Amino acid sequence: MRTVHTLKELRAMLREYRRQGKRIGLVPTMGNLHEGHLSLVRKATEAADVVVTSIFVNPMQFGATEDLDTYPRTLAEDQKKLETAGNTLVFAPSNNEIYPEGLARQTRVSVPDVSEGHCGASRPGHFDGVATVVAMLFNMVQPDVAVFGEKDFQQLAVIRKMTRDLKMPVEIIGVPTSREKDGLARSSRNGYLTAEERKQAPAVYKTLQALAQKLQSQEDTQDFAALERAGQTMLSEAGLRPDYLNIVNSHTLKPAAPDDRELTILVAAFLGTTRLIDNLSLSR
Ligand code: PAJ
Repeated sequence: MRTVHTLKELRAMLREYRRQGKRIGLVPTMGNLHEGHLSLVRKATEAADVVVTSIFVNPMQFGATEDLDTYPRTLAEDQKKLETAGNTLVFAPSNNEIYPEGLARQTRVSVPDVSEGHCGASRPGHFDGVATVVAMLFNMVQPDVAVFGEKDFQQLAVIRKMTRDLKMPVEIIGVPTSREKDGLARSSRNGYLTAEERKQAPAVYKTLQALAQKLQSQEDTQDFAALERAGQTMLSEAGLRPDYLNIVNSHTLKPAAPDDRELTILVAAFLGTTRLIDNLSLSR
């Protein structure tokens, strides 16, 4: 497995693979890889001959008060894990390689509608940063297929819409959320939790499951606002500070309507200073 840091080296390697007629898969990440990321890489090895994993902590998607400086950077460990998962090439560019003129002068990609609300409301500019760097990665790697996690449900919707709207010739594959035994969604940010907070964290998924069960039972199926409030109360009682808990149409991410069949519960909550997100989809 090779690691390259510049666009020039990346293109030279990819030119050769393409000449050999290989199908190229891309897994964009910010590193500090865990089993969730590796499940994406394994999925990519099934869908492509050559898998490129990018590792780049993208400054454009972090707000001024967020954890850009403290975000864990663990390239050596990441390389070992990727090798075992069957990855072909690691692309780990510097900030200067991606944004040579600085963030302020960078052309941006902005995806309307699905970027609004939920994490888009709590983290202004976040999805513009995600869409911009992913569009750039698509142009740098020119993959046939790219793999993303359903853990970041709104992000996946933003990327699907961007790809569709801009006619990007990339197939997008979503992979189900990888969880710890107690249900907590795997995340690089779980490493920020204290031992005490880690014990409280499974309440996020427990809340989602309880609400999903209610949504699928006969009663309570129409009053989404009441269910959202009940979910927020469950989180508060477990010691978390809810940021949002929204029951939405799985396709539009707009508030659920009574006759919607495919629903997703989207949640973000703070444990101390750590912000956790999760979601659960159901059909009825
Ligand atoms: P990052 O948080 O590193 O996640 C990289 C990819 O792994 C994303 O597609 C994310 O949804 C997926 N992922 C994370 N945890 C997961 C889990 N528990 N189960 C399944 N998939 C999981 O998301 C980003 O980086 C960035 O925004 C990025 C897309 C790389 C753009 O900078």
